[in-house]
Amino acid sequence: MVSMQSSQSRSAVVAAASSLKYLERLSGEAVRSPNQSLMPLTATVTAQDHLAIGGCDVTELVKTFGSPLYILDEVSLSAACQQYQTALAEHYGGESLAIYASKAWNCLAVCALVKREGLGIDVVSGGELYTALQAGFEPEKIYFHGNNKSREELSQAVAIGCNVVADNWLELRSLAELAQAHGKTMAVMVRFTPGIECHTHEYIRTGHIDSKFGFDPEQLSEVFEFIKGADSLDCIGLHCHIGSQIFELQPHRDLADVLVDAFLKAQHYGLGVQQLNVGGGLGIRYTESDDPPSITTWVQQVCESIVRACKARGLALPKLICEPGRSLIGSACVTAYTIGSQKEVPGIRKYITVDGGMSDNPRPITYQSIYRSVLANQMSAPLTETVTVAGKHCESGDVLIKDASLPSTEPGDILVVLATGAYNYSMSSNYNRLARPAGVLVKDGQADLILRRETLEDLVRFDALPARLAK
Ligand code: LLP
Repeated sequence: MVSMQSSQSRSAVVAAASSLKYLERLSGEAVRSPNQSLMPLTATVTAQDHLAIGGCDVTELVKTFGSPLYILDEVSLSAACQQYQTALAEHYGGESLAIYASKAWNCLAVCALVKREGLGIDVVSGGELYTALQAGFEPEKIYFHGNNKSREELSQAVAIGCNVVADNWLELRSLAELAQAHGKTMAVMVRFTPGIECHTHEYIRTGHIDSKFGFDPEQLSEVFEFIKGADSLDCIGLHCHIGSQIFELQPHRDLADVLVDAFLKAQHYGLGVQQLNVGGGLGIRYTESDDPPSITTWVQQVCESIVRACKARGLALPKLICEPGRSLIGSACVTAYTIGSQKEVPGIRKYITVDGGMSDNPRPITYQSIYRSVLANQMSAPLTETVTVAGKHCESGDVLIKDASLPSTEPGDILVVLATGAYNYSMSSNYNRLARPAGVLVKDGQADLILRRETLEDLVRFDALPARLAK
């Protein structure tokens, strides 16, 4: 643990149009929910005009832990967890549970933090499952997803007895067989595609019928009959997930009717279903123009829709599960980079290059995602330049931000890219043999390492050299 207490809180210096001004404007806009804040909730500016998060001066963090650096704010992540739970307790009359879709960022510390906050967890691979277990999750609070779980992964699930979200016939049959062979009964949720469209990037839409995930709704009768006949399977509920980074509420209202109808159908087939999982999908703010609903509003709408749909059909309220990823952790983290080379293309654009890029944040090149940035070592310097922030990879598309508004910068300055908590580290790679960055968890002026920076030795750790090539 390293003490990083920033000497003073917010500076009084306010320049015309600066990162500081930007931060103040954003935090002044009645942020009701972490997912609506571009900055981690604890972001302040020190007397030295540096950005501080969790009471830690970002430039000091970089000096201590190196660059690039993922900086995760514990207060923001905890607050988001608590908002989901409080809203569920307030707006749903029945039992409920928020579970963290750990694909957003799966590592020991994040899993342990979310567990401490009382959430369950969604895992999608043997690796995520292993990490959740190592972080101390009880099998009853683990929900194992995935559209092609291997036999080994299913055996792992049977051995520990977690909940399995069944996605397809191969898996259902294998699971029944494996559970029977071990004399166990496995709790199964059935995932199906609800046929609901929403407005988000096509790669992250999952609710439409033409999706690789889940059973086709036409197959549900057959699935229910199969589970009814399988002694080793206990169908505990149903699951749907419609997509990610969604700002609309209507798709989730529509989902309630589809899910509750399928729930009644499962009951009709004699299954003892008790749980409904509405998936995740609530979006976050990456730019000023993004306007997602708050966590509370989203939960309230989901609860009211499920309650209404159940009432209309005379159904007692099932246990309600929601499965957020991005809206829990996305806004809680920033990535700090060190600025290096610059290139001016006369009359066209100026590039500034940072010491990371598509390997630590593949979202811009994959989904054309837009990010915002601030200069952490000069928060009140006027924003005088419009530049393209490029990564250091051998790929023209390796651009983190097009047209970033920044002060004039120099090599060695610390650029902080905002809202990088979701699907950054978890989708990172070693492209061009770049070592993955370190990650720190910050709170009350203390910074704890949660991801050790990879070393050059790490990069060749899994390489094998055939004897005939070794000198
Ligand atoms: N549940 C299921 C079954 C999911 O597939 C997902 C996300 C979630 C919950 C959580 O969704 P969220 O609350 O985070 O929207 N790599 C993409 C996002 C892929 C989302 C995959 N599934 C990105 O960087 O935008």
